Amino acid sequence: MKQQNKIIVVGATSGLGRMLAERYIRDGHVVGIVGRRGDKLAEVAKGHSEVHCLKADVTDISQIAVHLSALAGEMGGLDLLVLCSGVGRMNPDLDYGLELPTVDTNVRGWTAVADWAFSFFMQQGYGHLAAISSVAGIRGLAPAPAYSASKAYQI
Ligand SMILES: NC(=O)c1ccc[n+]([C@@H]2O[C@H](COP(=O)([O-])OP(=O)(O)OC[C@H]3O[C@@H](n4cnc5c(N)ncnc54)[C@H](OP(=O)(O)O)[C@@H]3O)[C@@H](O)[C@H]2O)c1
Repeated sequence: MKQQNKIIVVGATSGLGRMLAERYIRDGHVVGIVGRRGDKLAEVAKGHSEVHCLKADVTDISQIAVHLSALAGEMGGLDLLVLCSGVGRMNPDLDYGLELPTVDTNVRGWTAVADWAFSFFMQQGYGHLAAISSVAGIRGLAPAPAYSASKAYQI
């Protein structure tokens, strides 16, 4: 029998994070899924008793660590956290209203989650933190400067 791990995927309601979470669920791991859209979390969790949902916003800086600690407690521990939440818009006119959610989610929220995971694993003595950044953080995407800069920050 394959080893069963306890895994949290932050940003598990769509895209890469959802695909990864569904794969971990299929493989029999205990999976914690995080995102703002409760209906999408419920879709992923449906029919799986080993899935724990956390409807949360990573930009809720004062609460996200508390919520993640509670989730890890509910799961009975944590071996791996995949930090996959992210937003980005094409923004050639540098509309600040578009830049702000990118900076909030990919820098402020991302840092809050990464700091929580690192501290949790240090205290526990083991664990893995994986984060999905982007090649945009290495080569830059001209029409999406804040997104590219946020991805360089993550790298
Ligand atoms: N797709 C690509 O081609 C590509 C290429 C390079 C890098 N990436 C990176 O890969 C990651 C996933 O991308 P994707 O294409 O799969 O995107 P996606 O389908 O839009 O998924 C983004 C995920 O992040 C979550 N999220 C966004 N803001 C959040 C917040 N404030 N709090 C909590 N969760 C939040 C979303 O959940 P809710 O909306 O439910 O909160 C969703 O689950 C991103 O970091 C992206 O930069 C993607």
